[in-house]
Amino acid sequence: MKRTSSRVYKITQEGAFAVLAKAKDAEAKGKNVIHMEIGEPDFDTPENIKRAAMEALAKGATHYTPTPGILGLREAIAEKVSAELGVSVNWKNVLVTLGCKEAIFASIMSIVDDGDEVIYPNPGYPAYESVTACSGGKPVPLRLSESNEFRMTPEEVNELVTSKTKAIIINSPHNPCGSVLKKEDVKGIVEIAEDRYAFVISDEIYYPILFDGLRHYSPLSFAKKDNVILVDGFSKRYAMTGWRLGYAVVPSDLVEPVTKLLNNMTSCPSQFVQYAGIEALRGPQDSVRRMVKAYEERRNAVMEELKKIEGVTYLKPQGAFYTFVNVQKILSRVGMNSEQLVARLIEDYGVAVLHGSSMGKYGEGFIRISFANSVENLVEGISRLGKAFSSMLR
Ligand SMILES: Cc1ncc(COP(=O)(O)O)c(C=O)c1O
Repeated sequence: MKRTSSRVYKITQEGAFAVLAKAKDAEAKGKNVIHMEIGEPDFDTPENIKRAAMEALAKGATHYTPTPGILGLREAIAEKVSAELGVSVNWKNVLVTLGCKEAIFASIMSIVDDGDEVIYPNPGYPAYESVTACSGGKPVPLRLSESNEFRMTPEEVNELVTSKTKAIIINSPHNPCGSVLKKEDVKGIVEIAEDRYAFVISDEIYYPILFDGLRHYSPLSFAKKDNVILVDGFSKRYAMTGWRLGYAVVPSDLVEPVTKLLNNMTSCPSQFVQYAGIEALRGPQDSVRRMVKAYEERRNAVMEELKKIEGVTYLKPQGAFYTFVNVQKILSRVGMNSEQLVARLIEDYGVAVLHGSSMGKYGEGFIRISFANSVENLVEGISRLGKAFSSMLR
């Protein structure tokens, strides 16, 4: 008898963590490495949020809470989502989770049966494919490419929809491409899902990191039927990755099944962290604006530097903090895949980026550059990429 389940083989891990380990290894051997691989804000969590956690700890907030979270936080999330998206969310539909990742896991697990199909963006966040496969479903990749500006369109979704489609996952602003869905795209995708009695799972973790004055559109604002699951969290917007705090806003009939799953996985998020979450949402938002502005400045600096590099193509990202760079020409010249190229870049040139294939099969041929570093380091990192690529093309 096999010692491990067949389900566990269907799970994949995020590649960024492996690349970070490789870069740290090179640093331990004395190599100077510029980090552009990690999808984690380099900013510290704002002071008011940290203080709220410490005060909650001092008052003894060290206990279990109800599985879906404390009432104050569920109310604060419902209020914030309602105000930002122009909808009316009831706190009873808000389930607090350990990061957006747990919200993704519990949402997919609660709706996908064996053989159900889930359409998802590829390249895209690896958990969509991994969790769908693990829950017995069939992941159906929708290929994002430069030609569709790395955006899913209703026409493309229509081509993939079948009677077995259970959910369509969207992610805007998008990791790893930095693309942002247009109003008519979001609306069109919601209409297709409603026609098919399928869910839309909308991963909005990078909202409000948007550039050039762009607006964010959520399927919740357009849904006429109760078929939207919104997943989001505090990691990116408030630079709170290590706190592990996120949430799902689910249709009423999913509250009980998703809560049961969360109860079996983690019982509840940490009590004092939930109090910090209330302060994050209700406290001053100027630090969020500062971080978004910094990401936009970095995006602009990265665009300027990339112009100097030969043999690559890229689009200007409109949100999140990544750009996805086409390096096919370099790869075919050196006879490597993107993962091998990334290893070479760390070892020989002291620059770490993420291989596109770690974001799905259609990410092969690309690398992801993260702006979670200072302008100075980004400029140096991209100049190292430039040196590497020009010597590879010679
Ligand atoms: C698109 C996307 N969704 C979800 C997550 C998970 O975020 P969290 O830290 O809240 O679990 C990430 C993290 O990188 C992400 O890029």
